[in-house]
Amino acid sequence: MRSSRRRYRQYLEQLKADRRSGRRGPGAKSTRRSRSLSRLLREFLGLLQGHKLTIGLALAALALGTVLKLIPLYSTKIVLDNVLAGHPLPPAWPVWLALPTDRRMLLTVVAVVTVVIAAISLAINTWSRWQTTRVTKRVQVSIRRRVFDHAARLPLHRVYELKSGGVASILREDAGGIADLIFSMLYNPWRAMIQLTGSLIVLAWVDWRLLLCSLTLFPIVLASHSTWVNRIRPLFRGVRASRQTVDSHATETFGGMRVVRSFSRQRTESANFVSNNDTMVRQEVLAWWWMRSVELVWAMLIPVASAVLLWYGGMRILDDTARVEAGTLAIENAFTVGDLVMFLGFLVALLSPLETLAESATGVQNQLAGLDRVLDLLAEPTEMPARPGAIVVRRDGVRGHVVVRNVSFAYPGSKVRVLTDVSLEAAPGEMIALVGPSGAGKTTLCNLIARFYDPVEGAIELDGVDLRDIEVTSYRRLLGIVEQDTFLFDGTIADNIGYGRRGAGADTIERAARLANAHEFITALPDGYRTLIGERGVKLSGGQRQRLAIARALLADPRILILDEATSNLDTESERLIQAGLQTLMADRTSFVIAHRLSTIAHADRIVVLEHGRAVEQGTHEQLLATSTRYRRMVELQTQPIPTSPAASYER
Ligand SMILES: Nc1ncnc2c1ncn2[C@@H]1O[C@H](COP(=O)(O)OP(=O)(O)OP(=O)(O)O)[C@@H](O)[C@H]1O
Ligand SMILES: [Mg+2]
Repeated sequence: MRSSRRRYRQYLEQLKADRRSGRRGPGAKSTRRSRSLSRLLREFLGLLQGHKLTIGLALAALALGTVLKLIPLYSTKIVLDNVLAGHPLPPAWPVWLALPTDRRMLLTVVAVVTVVIAAISLAINTWSRWQTTRVTKRVQVSIRRRVFDHAARLPLHRVYELKSGGVASILREDAGGIADLIFSMLYNPWRAMIQLTGSLIVLAWVDWRLLLCSLTLFPIVLASHSTWVNRIRPLFRGVRASRQTVDSHATETFGGMRVVRSFSRQRTESANFVSNNDTMVRQEVLAWWWMRSVELVWAMLIPVASAVLLWYGGMRILDDTARVEAGTLAIENAFTVGDLVMFLGFLVALLSPLETLAESATGVQNQLAGLDRVLDLLAEPTEMPARPGAIVVRRDGVRGHVVVRNVSFAYPGSKVRVLTDVSLEAAPGEMIALVGPSGAGKTTLCNLIARFYDPVEGAIELDGVDLRDIEVTSYRRLLGIVEQDTFLFDGTIADNIGYGRRGAGADTIERAARLANAHEFITALPDGYRTLIGERGVKLSGGQRQRLAIARALLADPRILILDEATSNLDTESERLIQAGLQTLMADRTSFVIAHRLSTIAHADRIVVLEHGRAVEQGTHEQLLATSTRYRRMVELQTQPIPTSPAASYER
């Protein structure tokens, strides 16, 4: 794995360089980290809308439960000092507690009270944790839904940029992690604060000198934390970036498995995968070491602190005992074994919340980065926001008069004009055919008519209204589209055809399938309409997939039909059969048909020849045959046999 070692070394150098220049580490450039911490916090609190009362109650309960949990620590002191050593109870204790003076009774009372308090505290804490967990899950679902809804409404070119793997990763990793902030930023720190304050108060009450001693631990903790956490964060980000590479590579390989196999590249892909993984593992091990070293320091800190305390406390006890015996110190004011043991207990109670705070800091940083990414996505404008006063169109109110007026277009992010000054008109119910060489812009023109994009110049009108003034979802309900690359979902045949219209019944689905000449092959399948067709319809032939797509478009009962090479994979016989069905259907629908096979479109009302993004000729089949050499040549090429070329063989 030489390549992964080299990559890992590059990664280390990059890390060092980043640290020196104060950048945020690998993977940071992919996200716009523009929001300040306070802004992120505000956004996060905004996400908790509607759950604030529950969270408030849960936090209040948590405070109560945590304080209760501290009380049993005090009981050790009572047992050791007042029961075993026989010291009198502190005079400061209120009379109404009415503790028994008998030592055995006192012991029993202390034991029972300890158990009862522990049980109550546990019950309260569990309730609070349960409420918080419930809110966390609900917030998670609502954030994921928001991200999903928003991503589904982004402009197409942004969706392509994000890639299906990218969206999945934002939904799973980033959006999923945000809700955990409730624990790492509210619940855990709150509990730590309560425990910390409670312990400090008790400690101050027991012995302020020891308290001062323990306070020296704080700066050590904070210093170790801030240096380490800052170094660990970029490491985690690096691991995340590598994991993304590994995942997307695997997804892509399996998506294109046929290509991989047909060129026998399994071993190359596997080697690639292993080497990517190897790099990631090296990064993970590095991060592991940094994390462990923090924990090692921590693990040492507690025994060292306890030892120091034991030593110092032991000395104090010896001194005080001597002074009590000498009569220079009252026994209530002496430092006792009970004090020491209780102090040790509280010391641990003091250190553990500090540890929690330090630990959750890494997690919080990671989750905040996720929140930042999600906010970035949510801030992106969605596809074609409705203009004020946009018209909602209805199927029955539409005649289907489509005009393309001087349209020019370039795909977002590219400067190349794919369409230049294209004009054409389709009267209601007319069939317009688009022909032309590959890459001429036929599909692009249909994309504009379907309003997947808006023209850069010019306009497309429906019944005299600019498409941009029509509410886009209501417009798309008028459309039936069969795309050049047939896309089917994994599911049954009936599900896929039924996708064209909400709540379509079995009989309507069958009627559409008959029109698309698909009924016969469907009923020949063992499960008929309930056959599962696999991801993207892999279990069907190309022609069968096309017929399902046609049936799906027909079921939508569209006013405007777009067929982009819809029958290119069919044999002439099947195509004829479909044509007959389509013809009757197209009678009162405006349709745009793209076909390389000119026999498909010979009967069109108008044929538009596109070349290099320009509409160069228009007319019926007969008119074009008579006037256009370009069109005549296209027809001739399709009817004449291909001449054999002497240089046709490919030499390696
Ligand atoms: N999403 C896209 N982003 C950028 N450029 C694109 C995009 N889709 C297509 N193009 C470019 O637009 C041009 C026209 O493509 P289009 O798909 O419209 O051709 P076509 O006439 O349908 O060709 P074919 O007959 O091969 O389907 C091509 O040069 C292509 O490179
Ligand atoms: Mg095309």
